[in-house]
Amino acid sequence: MARKISIFDTTLRDGEQSPGASMNTEEKLVVARQLVRLGVDVIEAGFPVSSPGDFEAVRRVAELVGDNAVVCALSRAVDADIEAAADALKYAKRPRIHTGLGVSPIHLQEKLHMSEEDCLQQVEHCVSYARKFTDDVQFYAEDAGRADYDFLVQVAEAAIKAGATVINIPDTTGYSLPDEFARRISYLRQHVKGIENVTLSVHCHNDLGMATALSLAGVEAGATQVECTINGIGERAGNTAMEEVVMAIAMHGKELDAYTDINTKEFMRSSRLITSVTGLGVQPNKAIVGANAFAHSSGIHQDGVIKARETYEIIDPASVGVGQTQIVLTARSGRAALRRRFEDLGYTLSDKELNALYKAFLQMADKKKEVYDEDLESLINERDRNISAIYTLEGVQISCGFPLTPTATVKLKKTDGMVSTACEFGTGPVDAMYKAVNKIVQVENDLTEFTVQSITRGIDALGEVTIRVAAPDGSIYVGRGSDGDIIVSSAKAYLNALNRLLNDKPELLN
Ligand code: KIV
Ligand code: ZN
Repeated sequence: MARKISIFDTTLRDGEQSPGASMNTEEKLVVARQLVRLGVDVIEAGFPVSSPGDFEAVRRVAELVGDNAVVCALSRAVDADIEAAADALKYAKRPRIHTGLGVSPIHLQEKLHMSEEDCLQQVEHCVSYARKFTDDVQFYAEDAGRADYDFLVQVAEAAIKAGATVINIPDTTGYSLPDEFARRISYLRQHVKGIENVTLSVHCHNDLGMATALSLAGVEAGATQVECTINGIGERAGNTAMEEVVMAIAMHGKELDAYTDINTKEFMRSSRLITSVTGLGVQPNKAIVGANAFAHSSGIHQDGVIKARETYEIIDPASVGVGQTQIVLTARSGRAALRRRFEDLGYTLSDKELNALYKAFLQMADKKKEVYDEDLESLINERDRNISAIYTLEGVQISCGFPLTPTATVKLKKTDGMVSTACEFGTGPVDAMYKAVNKIVQVENDLTEFTVQSITRGIDALGEVTIRVAAPDGSIYVGRGSDGDIIVSSAKAYLNALNRLLNDKPELLN
């Protein structure tokens, strides 16, 4: 019988460690909801001891997920970390503590200053301590990819003896070659006493561009859990991309004697959500979810796919959620058509939610000929993002062009209901708009980055603006906004960043 491969998602923990990918609690909850739709087996929700924000996010994700998945929290092999993880998971229906430490010579000597004997004692202690809080304890042997084979056997045995239910073998630095990593996993399966009673997991990084290959090699050698992230985001070059490893298992299930329970039709939507929440775009030629993954440009290929799609496509795009839009939404569409399309996309809306989104939809449809699925998802993301807005945009008007001096008039509403208007000149329309916003909000900040990206198709595409601002103490806040008009996108993005800054530092609010 084929082996079920558990999908352990670490987008909210290792993925969030990508430079620039940090998410607030509300965004993490939106992602967790999507992970449930995907049907992942385990959600690693964060590293609770690292900050009060991370602790709170793990607690709220655990409440939201209920028994739909195991919710896991990371800790180092330190009592205070394990206690924080246990505390954050207090209301989880299926809690798992993930604890461990470095086991390679370089980690032991240079980072931990520990002998192998001390390390084995620490393994025994952290696992048995975590077991006091939950029956499900996953042990990670950090940098296992560069560890001595026989020491790794001793480490895994000590963890199992102390009560670990899952043994995680990470190639933390993405150093291994697939063949060698498979040999390592086979060696553990042959030599570790009790390994048949636990789940063997692989956690691979992409430093040599081989994270997916390494994970598959691990599965072929007997691992039954794969740790991964959506779009492969993560430390440095990232982690194994969930969509890649799952589709490879789906395609080669027979040879691998394996299957997963992932709802692959959710991949495209999940990918767009992560791009929207983190601002980390996907390269167009990225497997499965890249914009060109199902695009054919050469005449020979086009001729082939028109005759039979399979000539040049190994995956049916519909199976990963890149289906054709069936209902064409325009400004003449009614609520019923909109509800239907949102339902097709997996969003069940109450009448109140539908009414609010319908208004936003009509505003967008007035400006665009056609509203695509990506547009609808950006409406949902926009709604989810605006949850704790202190200032909201009531209006922005620009006058610019040659030889005019760019001038912006901005109208903002504060949570207390006060509406303020300001007008400013600038070197360009965006500069003028930012100056007008600053005149009202009056929070000292430094704009360090500004990028515009088209997130939908066509000449009337939605433009998403991502900006970064630095507070007086140097802390960085990211803001995003999308609209058919990039000045409006820029204003929304700037306010989004300032709202985040003010939520974090309410003492700066005037
Ligand atoms: O890469 C790694 O080793 C990790 C561990 C904390 C599991 O992320
Ligand atoms: Zn990692």
